[in-house]
Amino acid sequence: ANANTAALAGGAVSAPAATEAAALTILYGSQTGNAKAVATQLKEQAQSRGLAAKLVSMADYKPTALKKEKFISIVVSTYGEGEPPEDAEALHEFLTTKKAPKLDDVKIAVLGLGDSSYEFFCQTAKDFEERLVKLGAQSIYQRADLDVDYEDQSETWIAGALDAFEPELKAQQGGEANVVSMPFGAASPAVSQYNKKNPFAAELLTVQKITGRDSTKDVRHIEISLEGSDITYTPGDSLGVYFLNEQSKVDKVLSLLQLDGATQITLGDESLSLRDALIEKLELTQSYPGFVEKYALATNTPELLALIEDKAAMREYIEARQTFDVIFQHPAQIGAQELVDCLRKVQPRLYSIASSQSEVEDEVHLTVGVVEFDAFGENHLGGCSGYLCRVAEEGSEVRVFTEHNDNFRLPSDDNTPVIMIGPGTGIAPFRAFLQEREARDAQGKNWLFFGNPHFTQDFLYQTEIQGYLKSGLLTNIDVAWSRDQAEKVYVQDRLREQGEQLFAWLEQGAHLYVCGDANRMAKDVHQALIDVVKTHGNKDDESAEQYIKDLRSANRYQKDVY
Ligand code: 2AM
Repeated sequence: ANANTAALAGGAVSAPAATEAAALTILYGSQTGNAKAVATQLKEQAQSRGLAAKLVSMADYKPTALKKEKFISIVVSTYGEGEPPEDAEALHEFLTTKKAPKLDDVKIAVLGLGDSSYEFFCQTAKDFEERLVKLGAQSIYQRADLDVDYEDQSETWIAGALDAFEPELKAQQGGEANVVSMPFGAASPAVSQYNKKNPFAAELLTVQKITGRDSTKDVRHIEISLEGSDITYTPGDSLGVYFLNEQSKVDKVLSLLQLDGATQITLGDESLSLRDALIEKLELTQSYPGFVEKYALATNTPELLALIEDKAAMREYIEARQTFDVIFQHPAQIGAQELVDCLRKVQPRLYSIASSQSEVEDEVHLTVGVVEFDAFGENHLGGCSGYLCRVAEEGSEVRVFTEHNDNFRLPSDDNTPVIMIGPGTGIAPFRAFLQEREARDAQGKNWLFFGNPHFTQDFLYQTEIQGYLKSGLLTNIDVAWSRDQAEKVYVQDRLREQGEQLFAWLEQGAHLYVCGDANRMAKDVHQALIDVVKTHGNKDDESAEQYIKDLRSANRYQKDVY
């Protein structure tokens, strides 16, 4: 069984049982790769202390192996409404079942990564700790729930956790350095010198509106040049994009707070002017409880102080506002450095890449929906979508890097059929998939499900898609124009209508991909898939669900949802 697991995991090998018990097992669950990166650091730090450590994706971990563990560290992120990343789903659930073993002699330490702008911040890490403790495990180092700017704190946590594990592990190992290393990533792509910390200054080549004049949405096709960088990517990967905050809004902050933009402030080990920091370095669009709290305390503003005690009210408050609005509505006396200390560092936004390098070479394309709304008598733009689509000019510089996503990959066998479900901007990675399948001259069938409000206004990449249909690259396309008739029609309705053929494709080994809205669409699509399998596979609820679960475990059902 070990050999099979190893093959599936792309080269992971299990250590012999004797060393296994004395090793620290680091299990990670990662959606975009951040938790995996932190888990890797943890492993490297452990090994540099001479401690045996192995690193395993939760997706590749056999839950029955829990019985043999003595030391476990969990590094897991949370996304959407407090949900585990895909690769953590099975283990997350397993721990609540009767099959979960007693873990009385097991020592654990859990690290959570999340985004405090969301209500269920680090929920998955909390769940894991709670579930393991319930099974008898003992937490030997305090769990930390880290926000999007986790980098410094994760280093501190790793050092602390290893201090806690070290004496116990050494005792078990009889003081012997016993390094179990897990060879990983047989197929991992070349690592670029550019990354989140060191982005590449790329040229913005093209910004083109691809929704119609009368559309309710503004979606742009964006082309960026990677020329002069060593950045490579694979269809399914994302591009991280840094952006600048709107200057007019930053100047409004300065004037309302009566601060001089030229004042020098410090940010980490950098010294720069307050105005530059507000434009380039600090998060002012997305709002988060941390800012409201710190600003409330620094300015002693009663309305904001009241929110600190009332979680639900805080949630509602930040959901309706950008950080800019909090300041505009409560201008108060505060120092330049004090203001900076209330704000968190701006995070790059991740977009699913919409191109394949086999087609566009040293370019990268994105499909970006502009986030825009009116509130408090003012127009609001999403930080990154607004910057890319409305502010930055063609020819200007944007700082970017790629994030590899091994959880969203075309089948390696080009004969395998592919089913792609991507309404709205969820189409992006499928444009990349189609370009790639065409370049590879893949013989497998391709089926696209796309949905948007109106056929005449919102058929993204219509000409290309119709070209693929004509050339035969696309075997099937099903579209759901939600507002072209009285009753709403969505992609999941099309899935049900096409159930018989869809099930036949699955039986032929098709891989299934879903990209787009996580909260509603992906859940409704998931249910539709279960229904299709039930109806056309003649199964009851339980075995239909199991069928879909098996697709997941076989990496034949992959999601890129946000
Ligand atoms: P609507 O806005 O007309 O309701 C891309 O955003 C497309 O997804 C739009 O046509 C949108 O329809 C549709 N959509 C909205 N909610 C959805 C859901 N729960 N499942 C699938 N598609 C949905």
